[in-house]
Amino acid sequence: MREEPVPPPRRTAVLISGRGTNLEALLREKQAGKLPAADIALVFSNNPAAKGLDFARQHRVPTAAVDHRDYRKEREGHERAILEVLKQHRIEIVVLAGYMRILTPVLVGAFAGRMLNIHPSLLPAFPGVRAQEQAWEYGVRVSGCTVHFVNEEMDGGPVILQRTVPVHPGDGPDRLAARILREEHKALPLALDLLTRGRLRLRGRRVDILRGNSSYPLLERELPTCLPLLIATGNQNKAEEIEGMLEGLPLSVYTTGELSDEGPGEVREDAPDYEGNARLKAGAWQKASGKWTLADDSGLEVDALSGRPGVHSNRYAPTTEERNRKLLAELADVPEEKRTARFVCSVVLRGPRGKEHTARGTCEGRIAFEPSGEGGFGYDPVFLPDGYDGASLAALGAEIKNRISHRARAIEALRPALERICSP
Ligand code: GRF
Repeated sequence: MREEPVPPPRRTAVLISGRGTNLEALLREKQAGKLPAADIALVFSNNPAAKGLDFARQHRVPTAAVDHRDYRKEREGHERAILEVLKQHRIEIVVLAGYMRILTPVLVGAFAGRMLNIHPSLLPAFPGVRAQEQAWEYGVRVSGCTVHFVNEEMDGGPVILQRTVPVHPGDGPDRLAARILREEHKALPLALDLLTRGRLRLRGRRVDILRGNSSYPLLERELPTCLPLLIATGNQNKAEEIEGMLEGLPLSVYTTGELSDEGPGEVREDAPDYEGNARLKAGAWQKASGKWTLADDSGLEVDALSGRPGVHSNRYAPTTEERNRKLLAELADVPEEKRTARFVCSVVLRGPRGKEHTARGTCEGRIAFEPSGEGGFGYDPVFLPDGYDGASLAALGAEIKNRISHRARAIEALRPALERICSP
């Protein structure tokens, strides 16, 4: 049974320790209708006297406190108690807004990818306490604030966004801190808006900010956003190859493996030509995922076999080895000059509302007498592209292959369309 796509998290707890001006900024924005997808369901503190708790009560937001002093040196016990409170309130997102405790894996692990922190410096510079003072004393010319996902390193998680401020000669740490704080009050609501709209995608250490609706169009202009693009292939090699060819474009690339819950199931590939098959794949996956989708279909056309295996290249024999063996056997008596062949690739890019772009690329060459080379995949070991001294596509290495292959040329031909789609 197909599962529904998981909606982005919404129920948010803000954790504070002191005055709570960042909390105030979040609640003000919420009240002004600027955080439509976020539900600020709890304000929590390790300090029952924290000023921010009063402010939350005035705004009728539920509050809770678990005093860390009751736990002495038992950090993890304290966090387990907090976790219990968060569970009771069905919290999905934790925002650390001036929460002055070092966290352990108990809390961090429970909210991986759903815990944000705001820090008053441009990380990784000046982590830890008194960041503004550290920056002032160091003598930097710019500083600012960082909102990041929290991991187990202190102030070391993946950066979501940063805002900068100048450091003026007469500032001193206090004036600098005040200037940074004004930016914090913009950055934190923006980050929460993005997270609750499902627009943040964590990829290793990097965070992709996906293009989409926002409450902060002006602030967003300064952000590097990217367009989600699905590569509709179950072939991981092909997906990686295509991703490499798309370098330089502001895209956040997904593969079908990552989206299988949103997939269309088995897609028929029974069109009479490459373009038709690519269109079937792109259409089915676009419809199921809602994303811009790129699909390709390719094949090897051997002149001595009247263009076979062609559109049936993938089904010519069950495995890659068997396909290559069968091909070489069929061509056993064909002399070198008659072994001409070409790889052909059609790509179809399909967008919402039926928008479509297509392109085609070919790579001319000959079929070898025996396989060679360790790289590539499919028929690459038996294909000798023209102009490379008889080296097979599998022997030429990814850098050359990704420049001259049929797929590379098709993607290159599609690039202007991709650039247009990517430009905001
Ligand atoms: C802010 O500077 C924040 O960056 C840091 O702690 C301070 C909290 O201030 N993590 P407030 O309590 O939100 O006013």
